[in-house]
Amino acid sequence: MEELYLNWYNFANEALRYEVENPRSFGKAHRIVVVGMGGSAIAGDMIAIIANSTGSIPVFVWKDFYTPKTLIDDSTAVLAISYSGNTRETILSLEQALRRTDMVGVVASNGKLLEIAKEKRLPYIQVRRGLVPRAALPILLYASLALLEACDVKLVEKSDVNEGIEVLRDVETAKSDSIYIASYLQRARLPLIVATTRYNALATRVKNELNENAKMPAKVEIAPELFHNDIVGWEAAVVSDRALIIESDIEYERALLSFYAEYLQERGFEVTELKLRGRSLLARYLYGSLVAGLASVRIAKMRGVDPMTTHSISKYKNLVTALEDRVRSSIEY
Ligand code: PA5
Repeated sequence: MEELYLNWYNFANEALRYEVENPRSFGKAHRIVVVGMGGSAIAGDMIAIIANSTGSIPVFVWKDFYTPKTLIDDSTAVLAISYSGNTRETILSLEQALRRTDMVGVVASNGKLLEIAKEKRLPYIQVRRGLVPRAALPILLYASLALLEACDVKLVEKSDVNEGIEVLRDVETAKSDSIYIASYLQRARLPLIVATTRYNALATRVKNELNENAKMPAKVEIAPELFHNDIVGWEAAVVSDRALIIESDIEYERALLSFYAEYLQERGFEVTELKLRGRSLLARYLYGSLVAGLASVRIAKMRGVDPMTTHSISKYKNLVTALEDRVRSSIEY
């Protein structure tokens, strides 16, 4: 699986060359809603944070079988992202979106979502098949941005798109950072992944990579919210572990994070930092995701587990297939 991550530079370039089928204008949209789950939705989480700091239109992400009527109306553009194209939550959310707005797009490699997109002549990008969703992050991210841009919604400047690709080129630096992070985290039992709101989606991505590739639990804590709850939870804690703090590029956020690092150390935690590269948020997110992906695969190897397989997710998906009629009948369209 390591080779997939080491190929991200090529994947990102490839994604920019994909054709957008059936483009149409989403220009009248007042908001974008991304629907998806897991390794596909995280591309939406990242786009939301990045676009909400640089773009001119708010982006929200919704991860469930249903979508609230207040969130999706006829002035909302909806993007459904599913690597497999067969994730039930995403399919049902797409079906609801189609009843409420004519601005709906799809990014998938295969499956029911692509069938719907073709049948309804929705804007879509078919990405390459044969990967696992989490290893396709730059493809899903760049294909999503490209689809929206072809539909008149530009969320990220070209210079940032290019910088995001460039940081993926230097795989040797990412590899050496990942070796350090892997050897640090592999001895943790329940590592804390700490970040500020601006890097919330990266903290979640690091956690998800540890969960899915390394088969390891992890906990995310986000500042400043953590100072209103999580911090108290450690006051009388009987356990301490290892924390990974995702660095911020904002000066006052660094002060908050170092305050928390000292606090955790006083309670017996070991603390280290995930350093990011690049100027733009997009580049920093991609670099951090690459290091986390490589580190999680390395931990998997050390623990003797297979990073590619996710048996529990498959079990859950079987349950959902069996429950589909019941889920459909309780959804308000
Ligand atoms: O990374 C993974 O394999 C999962 O988190 C999947 O992304 C998740 O189960 C949703 O599937 P898909 O990405 O195919 O919609």
